Amino acid sequence: MKNFESKQWNLKNYPVAKIGLEHFELITTNISGGTVIQNKFLTLDPFAKAIMAPGHIEKDGPIISDAVGEVVQSDREDLSIGDIVVHKGGWREYHALGKDEWYLKVPDTSIDLTYYLSILGSTSRTAFIGARNILKVQPGWNVGVSGVSGATGLAFAQMAKFEGCNVLGFTSSLEKANWIKDNIGIEVIVSKGLNHAQLSEETFKVFPNGMDAYQEHVDNTHLFNAMTSLKPNSTIALCGLMRTYNGPMAPGPNLNMSIWKNINIQGFMLANFPKEDTIDKFFQYMGQKLPKFKWKQSTIDGIENMDSAFLDMFQNFDKGKIIIKLQKW
Ligand SMILES: NC(=O)c1ccc[n+]([C@@H]2O[C@H](COP(=O)([O-])OP(=O)(O)OC[C@H]3O[C@@H](n4cnc5c(N)ncnc54)[C@H](OP(=O)(O)O)[C@@H]3O)[C@@H](O)[C@H]2O)c1
Repeated sequence: MKNFESKQWNLKNYPVAKIGLEHFELITTNISGGTVIQNKFLTLDPFAKAIMAPGHIEKDGPIISDAVGEVVQSDREDLSIGDIVVHKGGWREYHALGKDEWYLKVPDTSIDLTYYLSILGSTSRTAFIGARNILKVQPGWNVGVSGVSGATGLAFAQMAKFEGCNVLGFTSSLEKANWIKDNIGIEVIVSKGLNHAQLSEETFKVFPNGMDAYQEHVDNTHLFNAMTSLKPNSTIALCGLMRTYNGPMAPGPNLNMSIWKNINIQGFMLANFPKEDTIDKFFQYMGQKLPKFKWKQSTIDGIENMDSAFLDMFQNFDKGKIIIKLQKW
């Protein structure tokens, strides 16, 4: 049985409001026994901030995110040394895979492995569930999505477009809007600085009859607009509230609209959907559609830089999905 020395980022303190470098600690641990994965690429997940609270992540315990790595020791029949897997034990060099822990054996190792953290990763699988299972988007529908330049938003917009929907994305800068219009070919509104009433005015210019479905990724201002701009009997897929994870909540939407217009708001977590939808159907779909997708990703070298990269993620730079490449590889 080998001993694996592994650098790992722990959550040193629970952030009360904003997170800073003081909340992270890079430690060295030793792993021996069991099934061990040597991580090759890690990624950053905004939701990690939302769950940095008692009951979710333990204080002085490891932070989690998606990762791709190679099995270097196995005590189980379903995994062999050399297998490449996606799993949730990021923020560390080696991960001891728990008996009941989720993992995915990479279906095709000839594909760039970083894609399993970006376009083939959990953000696209979330977009897939939002579009297909929650909103059940139909050809000809007017569909809105906030945070459209993000990994989930961009994948969602393209999935809805491929289904034959008219898609309207909300983004924070003209530069991002132009890239999306040129590369994805959907309508885009620059929402930064607009209040919900101004957003609704702009939304009705694009969809005079309103939206049929909407996926939220950003904040209450966008949600408020959705309440106003959606048609009766429609659905909001509440996927995330990115701007609130490391900043204050904006004033809330008028939820009375949900009553008057019979709008259904459905929050959802990817992890609560069955493998048949999140893996089998997703990879079947991507097997045909991957060449049509456009996305952004950027690479950072070294686990040592992961804490500052995580803070940068909340600055809303235009880097796409951030992949951490471990220097050992
Ligand atoms: N429910 C689930 O199971 C699940 C799974 C995965 C992700 N999510 C959620 O989906 C949302 C997007 O996640 P992601 O991984 O796609 O993130 P991402 O790639 O980092 O994109 C987030 C996007 O949000 C927008 N944004 C607005 N204010 C921001 C701020 N202050 N800082 C950073 N970004 C800001 C930006 O788009 P614009 O500039 O275009 O506005 C940004 O591109 C998050 O709320 C996340 O929690 C939920």
